[in-house]
Amino acid sequence: MRVSIVGSGYVGTTVAACLADLGNEVRAIDVDRRVVEPINAGTSPIHEPGLEPLVSAYGGDTLRATTDYGAVTDTEVTVLALPTPTDSAGGINLEAMEAGTRSVGEALRHAEDYHLVVVKSTVIPGTTAERLVPILEDASGRREGVDFGVAVNPEFQREGSAVEDFMEPDKIVLGTDGDERALDRLARLYEPLVAQWETPVVETGRREAEMIKYANNAFLAAKISLINDIGNICKEFGVDTYEVADALGLDDRISDQFLRSGVGWGGSCFPKDVDALRVAARDAGYEPAVLDAAVELNDKQPRRLLSLLDDHVDAEGCRVAVLGLSFKPGTDDIRNSRAIPIIEGLLDRGAEIVAYDPVATEPMRERFPDIEYTEAAIDALDGVYGAVVITDWDEFATLDTEFDAMARPVVVDGRRIVKRRDGITYEGLTW
Ligand code: UGA
Repeated sequence: MRVSIVGSGYVGTTVAACLADLGNEVRAIDVDRRVVEPINAGTSPIHEPGLEPLVSAYGGDTLRATTDYGAVTDTEVTVLALPTPTDSAGGINLEAMEAGTRSVGEALRHAEDYHLVVVKSTVIPGTTAERLVPILEDASGRREGVDFGVAVNPEFQREGSAVEDFMEPDKIVLGTDGDERALDRLARLYEPLVAQWETPVVETGRREAEMIKYANNAFLAAKISLINDIGNICKEFGVDTYEVADALGLDDRISDQFLRSGVGWGGSCFPKDVDALRVAARDAGYEPAVLDAAVELNDKQPRRLLSLLDDHVDAEGCRVAVLGLSFKPGTDDIRNSRAIPIIEGLLDRGAEIVAYDPVATEPMRERFPDIEYTEAAIDALDGVYGAVVITDWDEFATLDTEFDAMARPVVVDGRRIVKRRDGITYEGLTW
């Protein structure tokens, strides 16, 4: 099919490259030349495992990028993959989404054939029908359901495995409110994946599709907070939460995923989506008690970790190492990383911080320019009075004699990654 993707962030670029790989003719539309040019030259503007080879194979060929929304009219389907960031009240900011939708609508004014617009961005239930469709109709002068269709098709891609998650999905959600023409066209796009993996396809309403995305992220975030709550209780009783979680995971109803307890969840999605859902629920007159508690507990985990450090080290005036700065391993993304409240807490205590991360140093340096950063974990450990572990990078599992470089070998592990050994004081956050 001929498909345009609006927005070349990590979702848009991945979707564009994967759809090209599935044999489609793809146009990536972005207002930023700095992402358009590399795509056409065959280089990915973002780092995601498996993405570079796809952009290199199709970029400038069946995957072409442009800043011109006119490209929409060369295609049959337009996928909106624009950001919906948090606004000052915790809800979603629809500015980029509405501006992009208007530009698509203006392009559709010149479309000759029926066109399908697909909302992939995460939006609160009702947004597509109540906010986006009117913009499309107004800008195009055409009618939804007659001249064009609008579907909701959320994504469930994780940073670090976005290509694999797209190519081998657990489910495909198609929200069309029963519009057969829209459904047929959207289903065609996913046909090769469904044929290959027998992926379950959820055909549903647009509001339901919008909600499924929030519910998915809210459920996973709350699952981590629940295992963290249980973990904190385990710690009080001298119980190893990870042994408990292994047993829990054997119950099919629970599953063994997202049961790693520790310093909590971060990233660009869970905090944003859980907050947006809580704000929307309150606006609708409902108090989301479990989600409120999930967030509250998540905010507490870094404080608990620091208080474990306090049990062993008076951080004031002491050098303390922070190992791991990204919100999870495999990415240099520090958005809502648990390392941020940890660094703030250490600064409040008057500690001298020395931080290490294999890839996320530069983004964190922009946020905290005045702390020290090292090129290797061993350099961060040299002469410190304590170390806190915030990201479960594999390399931290092999740290051993490196701890001998510490002035006082106190390690507080927030991710169950460091191996305990004689000669170090080891505290697991929830074990
Ligand atoms: C998340 C979802 O997993 C994706 O399905 C979704 O598409 C994406 O958000 C999105 O909305 O775009 P991502 O933010 O890349 O993906 O990160 P995850 O791999 O889900 O991890 C989130 C956080 O939870 C990380 O800070 C991680 O360290 C933490 N986590 C995860 C735990 O603390 N324990 C676990 O057992 C698992």
